[in-house]
Amino acid sequence: MGRFAYGFDKIRILKFIPYYCTKQYFPYQFSIILVLNTFIIMIRKFKSLFVAAACIAIAVMCYTSCTFNNTSSAASEIKPMVLPAPERPTGQADVINLTTPKLETVRVGFIGLGMRGPGAVERFTHLEGVKIVALCDIHSDRVEKSQNILKKAGLPEAIAYSRNEDAWKQLCERDDIDLVYIATDWKNHTPMAVYAMEHGKHAACEVPIAISVDECWQLVNASEKTRKHCIMLENCCYDFYEMTTLNMAQHGLLGEIVHAEGAYIHDLRSLNFMNPEKGGYNDWWRLKMNEEHTGNYYPTHGLGPVAQALNIGRGDRMEYLVSVSSDQFGMTAYAKDKFGADSEFAKQTYALGDMNNTIIKTAKGKTILIQHDVTSPRPYNRKHALSGTKGYIEKYPRPGIALDPSEVASAKFDNLAAHSFVSKEIYDALMEEYQHPITKEVGELAKKVGGHGGMDFIMDYRLVYCLHNGLPLDMNVYDGAEWSCLGELTELSVKNNGAPIAVPDFTRGGWNKIQGFKHAFVE
Ligand SMILES: NC(=O)c1ccc[n+]([C@@H]2O[C@H](COP(=O)([O-])OP(=O)(O)OC[C@H]3O[C@@H](n4cnc5c(N)ncnc54)[C@H](O)[C@@H]3O)[C@@H](O)[C@H]2O)c1
Repeated sequence: MGRFAYGFDKIRILKFIPYYCTKQYFPYQFSIILVLNTFIIMIRKFKSLFVAAACIAIAVMCYTSCTFNNTSSAASEIKPMVLPAPERPTGQADVINLTTPKLETVRVGFIGLGMRGPGAVERFTHLEGVKIVALCDIHSDRVEKSQNILKKAGLPEAIAYSRNEDAWKQLCERDDIDLVYIATDWKNHTPMAVYAMEHGKHAACEVPIAISVDECWQLVNASEKTRKHCIMLENCCYDFYEMTTLNMAQHGLLGEIVHAEGAYIHDLRSLNFMNPEKGGYNDWWRLKMNEEHTGNYYPTHGLGPVAQALNIGRGDRMEYLVSVSSDQFGMTAYAKDKFGADSEFAKQTYALGDMNNTIIKTAKGKTILIQHDVTSPRPYNRKHALSGTKGYIEKYPRPGIALDPSEVASAKFDNLAAHSFVSKEIYDALMEEYQHPITKEVGELAKKVGGHGGMDFIMDYRLVYCLHNGLPLDMNVYDGAEWSCLGELTELSVKNNGAPIAVPDFTRGGWNKIQGFKHAFVE
C-alpha cells in the first residue's frame, strides 16, 4: 500500500521538494498543492498524521524561503560584466587632443582598393597639399585601376604594392609617407594600423577600426607609445544633417541631450552573397563574419555622430551596455530563395541575428539605442535621433525637428508644438541658421566631388586640414576604440541573454579631461 490518491506518494512528494525549492519553480502554486494534498492525506490516512504535519511545515518553509529568495534577488544589484583592462605602460601618456608637427604636404599610401578604397584615392586627387605616394592591394588589377584614377587627374603614377599578402608592410616601412589610409576587410584593420604607427606613420582606417576589445587596446597603446594619430574614418559624422544637428546640440537648441539613437539598417544580402570574382567582398570576408559572429560588429555609423553630440570621451563616457538579437532568419530565407534549399548557402549556419538592439548607459545618465540589421528588406536607415530637454531631431525615415515652445519664446518662429515636427518653413530656416561652419566652408565642393553625397570628402578634407595645421584630429584613437569595441561587447551580451557588459574606459581616466566635443580650427 502506501500509495495515496491523485498518484502522489510520500517518497515522491518529499523527493521533489528540494527540486521545487532550488528551482523556485512555481513556489506559490506548489505550496498550495502541497497543503491540499496534505489535507487529503490527513483525511484518508489518519494514521499518517505525523507525515502530514511534517509536510505542512515543509510547505510553509518552502513558501517563505521562495518568497525571501525572490525579494532578495530583486533587491540585489546585477553588476555589469567587466573585461580585463591593461594598465598604461610606464612612460606612456594619453593622446587626448594630440598634436603633431605641421605637414606642408601630406604624403599618403593607400592599402585596400576594393569597393571602398578607390573612392578615397579619387577624393584625395581633389585635395590640395597631398601627394599620393603608394597604392597597395593583393590584386594587382585593382592597383592598376587606381593608377588610372591618378592618371585621369593628371598626377604621377604611385609606387605599386600587390600580389603578396604582406606587401602592405613594405608600404608602411617607406620613409616618404606620413599617412597610411586603410580600406581593407575588418580583420586587417588593427594589424595594419598598428604596424603603420610603429613605423612612424599616422593611421587612418575604415570602420570598424577593431573587431575585439584586445585590438582596441593595441591601437590605444600604439598611438600613445608612438605619439602618432590613429583615426577611424567614420564618415557619417560629416554628413550634412548630422553636422547641422550637432551644431544645434552644441548651441543648446535641444537643451540637455538625454537620449540618442543610431542604426545601421542596410539590406546587404545581395552583396554578402555576391561572388568575389563578380564584384563581391574579397574572399567572402563579410559573409564569413556573419557566419561566425552575432551582436553588432558594425555599430559606428549610427553611434559616431550621436557620441559626438553627447560629448562621449569629452565629459561623458559609455559605461555599460545590454544587447539582444533576434534569431537568424533572413540570410537562410534569402539563400533558399536565391540558390535553392539544397545549396551550400542555404545549409550554412549564420550566427548573426537579423536585428540587434543595443542600449548603452553613459556615466552621466544618458542612454543610446543602437540597432543593426543588414539582412532584411528594409529601407536604408541610420536613425540619427537626438532627444533633449528642449527639443528633438531625427533624420530617418524623414528628417524632422520638434522643439519645446518655450525654447523659441523669443518668437522667432511661430506655431511650435513639441508633439509634432515643425513645419517645412521653420525646418528650413533652422537648418540654414544652424548649418555647421565646416559644411558651409566645404559643402559645395564636397557635393561636387561626392562620396555618399559629399560626407566622405568632408571627412578627408578635415583629416588633411588638421594634419596640415598640426591640430588635433576630429576623432582620436579612443573614439575609434570606444565605438568599435561594441562588436565584441554586444556579442558577449547577446550570448549571455542580454547581460550588462561594462564598456572599457580606453582613456584610462581621461574622458573627463576635456568638456565638450569640438572641431579644431586654426585660430
Ligand atoms: N564608411 C563607409 O561608408 C564604408 C562603405 C563601404 C565599406 N566600408 C569599409 O571599407 C572597408 C573595405 O570594404 P570594401 O567594401 O571595399 O571591401 P572589399 O572586399 O571590396 O575591399 C577590400 C580590399 O582589401 C584588399 N585586401 C585585403 N587584404 C589585403 C592585404 N593583406 N593587402 C592588401 N590588400 C588587401 C582586398 O584585396 C580588397 O580589394 C571595410 O572595412 C568596410 O567596412 C566603409
